[in-house]
Amino acid sequence: MADYKITLLKGDGIGPEIVNQAVKVLDCAAEKFGFGVTYDEALLGGCAIDATGVPLPDETVAKCKASDSVLLGAVGGPKWDSQPGNNRPEAGLLGIRGALGLFANLRPSVIFGPLKSASPIKDEIIGGNLDVMIVRELTGGIYFGERGRKEVNGQPAAWDTEMYTVGEVERIAKVAFDLAMKRNKKLTSVDKANVLESSRLWRETVKRVAEDYPEVELNHMYVDNCAMQLVRNPRQFDVILTSNIFGDILSDEASMIAGSIGMLASASLSGSKLGLYEPIHGSAPDIAGQNIANPLATILSVAMMLRYSLDQSEAADAIEAAVAKVLETYRTPDIYEEGFTKVGCDEMGDRVCEAL
Ligand code: NAD
Ligand code: IPM
Ligand code: MN
Repeated sequence: MADYKITLLKGDGIGPEIVNQAVKVLDCAAEKFGFGVTYDEALLGGCAIDATGVPLPDETVAKCKASDSVLLGAVGGPKWDSQPGNNRPEAGLLGIRGALGLFANLRPSVIFGPLKSASPIKDEIIGGNLDVMIVRELTGGIYFGERGRKEVNGQPAAWDTEMYTVGEVERIAKVAFDLAMKRNKKLTSVDKANVLESSRLWRETVKRVAEDYPEVELNHMYVDNCAMQLVRNPRQFDVILTSNIFGDILSDEASMIAGSIGMLASASLSGSKLGLYEPIHGSAPDIAGQNIANPLATILSVAMMLRYSLDQSEAADAIEAAVAKVLETYRTPDIYEEGFTKVGCDEMGDRVCEAL
């Protein structure tokens, strides 16, 4: 029997609440599909600062590297906002993405049938279905570029650098084209090539990689237009390929089309089997500790883990089907509509297990 070692990085805010539900569901899936899971917890983010002084202790990196996969809740919160930039909880998250080489971040924006009415976008715009895959570059660009403070014209100033190498763009483009080949063979590369030199290199490189994928229909779009098109006509998109910062922003926007940011999962991949799985949302300090957070993004991240890292695609499909089923009746407050039964974070986890 396969036995997987999973490192849990529960993090801060709602992190522990949502990860606990996802673990519950993973345990149910393990029992049903006949595999074993053992867990090890490690510190990341604000909780790590409180315990050790730094947001990413060496021990956490070692534990993640020694596991089959990593499940993360979220990090950050007002308590740590006055930390110096390189010692913030968020710096720990960038650190673990970098240390594990997780350059490819897949953020599927899928609308579950019963949630269509919970989306602020009209039914006729969403159409029959919405299934957009955002492929976000995750270990380069302005997040990892040089930054600093200096004096300009006698005033304090600050700077950050957006830079991409051809190799960084090539490898993420290949991931996106490979995914497009398995989907509807349409790829939109999003940049700001009308202004940024790094985007011009991005666009040239994507065009070159496209030569190896003649079946994929490629178009290029400026990021401001893309933000608008996602709301005007999201169905035009199949795979969106974009940089670290643009992918961060566009995926939060895309989540709302699907009804709530509490619904969107993600996979961060390196090319090896080890991946890190996390909801795209943050630690939601405004609702932490109240048992009202939506755990479905984290539960759906477990489904992605089963599919991409653990070769348990049947279990992944079953979890997604269970989520769809549960949404016909039960809703956390962020996706609540009249006529449904309102549940808390805990109960949502229980209902998904039941449906499994
Ligand atoms: P956020 O995603 O935490 O919250 C934005 C809004 O969405 C809030 O109103 C929150 O209550 C709501 N929300 C988020 N997740 C939800 C869920 N599962 N169910 C119901 N509602 C949910 O973003 P923010 O407020 O900008 O950031 C808060 C903190 O989280 C910051 O410290 C930020 O840096 C951090 N953050 C961490 C991650 C991560 O760990 N991957 C991602 C984004 C933000
Ligand atoms: C995300 C988050 C992170 C990011 C922050 C917390 C560093 O917003 O995972 O989307 O910007 O990548
Ligand atoms: Mn984000």
